Amino acid sequence: MSEEIDYEIKSILFTKEEINEKVKELAIEINSFYSENLFIIGILKGAFMFLADLIRYLDINLKVDFIEVSSYGANTESSGNINIVKDIKMDVKGRDILMVEDIVDSGFTIAYLKEEFKKREPKSIKVCSLLDKPSRRKVNINLDFCGFSIPDAFVVGYGMDVNEHFRNLPFIAIVDKVNKKEFKQTNV
Ligand code: IMP
Ligand code: MG
Repeated sequence: MSEEIDYEIKSILFTKEEINEKVKELAIEINSFYSENLFIIGILKGAFMFLADLIRYLDINLKVDFIEVSSYGANTESSGNINIVKDIKMDVKGRDILMVEDIVDSGFTIAYLKEEFKKREPKSIKVCSLLDKPSRRKVNINLDFCGFSIPDAFVVGYGMDVNEHFRNLPFIAIVDKVNKKEFKQTNV
C-alpha cells in the first residue's frame, strides 16, 4: 500500500551541481579557518547528507558526532520548544565545535544548542548551515559559515524532509501542500 503524501514538488531551487559547488566553497572557508582537531556535530536528521559531503572536502583533523533534537512534529512550523532526543557521546570541553545544520529558519534550534553546548565549556562554537531563511528569524543568531540564503518557502531534498518524505532527493526543491479535495477529484 502506498502512503499518502500531503506535499508535492513545486520547483527545483538548487540542482545537484549547484549544491556541490557551494559545499566545496564552504569547505574551503572551513579548511582555512581551522588548523586542527575540529569537532563536527551534525544536527539530525536533516544535516546528514550535507555533513557527509562537506567532510569529504575537509582536510583538517576532525571527529564527527550527531545530536538529534525535536521541535517540529508533523508540520512545517517550529514550536520553539526544543528537546534533545539523542545527545553526542564526545566530551567537547576545551574543543573547537562546528555545528552542521541543513537549514536555519526561526533560529530556535541553533540558539538552543549553542546555549546547551556553552555549558559544556568548549574552546569555541561555530555554526555552518547549508541554507538560511533570514526572513523567518525569531531569535538573533549568527551563522559563521552559510551556503545559500533562500526566500520564505518550505524546501525538501538533500537530507531535508516534510513529514519524513523526500530526504533522498539529490537536489533541493520547494514543496507545496496538495489540495486534497482537488487532488482526489482529478484522480478518479
Ligand atoms: P528552526 O529551529 O526554526 O531554525 O528550524 C530549524 C530546523 O527545522 C532545521 O534543522 C530543519 O531540519 C527544519 N526546517 C526548517 N525549515 C525547513 C524547510 O524548509 N524544510 C525542511 N526542514 C526545515
Ligand atoms: Mg535540521
